Amino acid sequence: MKVFISGPIPTNACDYLTEKGIEWDYHDSSIPLNKQELIEKAQDAHGLITTINDCIDQEVIQALSHLKCISQMAVGVDNINIQFASSLNIPVGHTPHVLTDATADLTMALILAVVRKLPQGQSQVRRGTWGAWEPQGLLGRDLGCLRLGIVGMGAIAAKVARRAYHGFSMAVHYHSPRRRPEVEKYCQAKYHQSLTELARHSDILSLHCSLNEQTQGLINHSVLGLLPHGSYVINTSRGDVLNQDDLLVLLQNGHLAGAALDVTSPEPLSPEHPLLQLPECLITPHIGSATKEARQEMALLAAENCVLGLENKPLKYQVNIS
Ligand code: GLV
Repeated sequence: MKVFISGPIPTNACDYLTEKGIEWDYHDSSIPLNKQELIEKAQDAHGLITTINDCIDQEVIQALSHLKCISQMAVGVDNINIQFASSLNIPVGHTPHVLTDATADLTMALILAVVRKLPQGQSQVRRGTWGAWEPQGLLGRDLGCLRLGIVGMGAIAAKVARRAYHGFSMAVHYHSPRRRPEVEKYCQAKYHQSLTELARHSDILSLHCSLNEQTQGLINHSVLGLLPHGSYVINTSRGDVLNQDDLLVLLQNGHLAGAALDVTSPEPLSPEHPLLQLPECLITPHIGSATKEARQEMALLAAENCVLGLENKPLKYQVNIS
């Protein structure tokens, strides 16, 4: 049996495949393969380990219909046509839970950075334009005075709520397709039935929903405009959940005080993109799960899922047919 790995993932995954007697090959470059290249490279593979950089659409899956498993090293699988994979009985795996703490930590880091104006401060220091301690300079806000509004209460969001409430005394509000009584109890989180109600009660809106037809462009002008004046937007989910043009307008006209985006549409943004010209908009390169620990566990779990697929067994974490 042979597995093709679409990028240079942590080597513990390869060690695991070797231990299991599985041959493997990988694309040794941080520049992702295009669809045609991926199809060629995976032609003789029985299993495919993918990352969010890969476009695994109907064409790719059709061309690789012999696969016994597609195993994504990520929790999000919006780059994979799950429905089509299911129609060909190809199991698709993903790697939830192991990146939850890392991504929740990054969310808090982004909140702190944008609310306390860290990018602006660093820029002053680097450019030599900071002269002295300023009684009224670079004023942020006390997190404990701000309400955190969470869109989509999954595992990562629940950990963000916990950090925000117990670590920073923030009031937590949320909107999600399903209520989470345990988060309401443990973090005193207030559930809002509609996104518009959530927006009215949020000083920081943090996005944690997965990308799908319902959430594409969900956070647009009409939601952002309902946030109180001087609010912040944080996105660690997927770039396409947020309408970036609308965000830009509301940052430029001062309705929003800042934004921090770990995900954008596209990734990366071109260096000329107007959001990158705004000091109050912090953009990081999709590093939510980028800790040594999380990435190693993600790689191992992706390899485990893949091996199970090759053995015709249900995957540890499977997103489609079982
Ligand atoms: C990263 O964005 C992931 O979905 O794991």
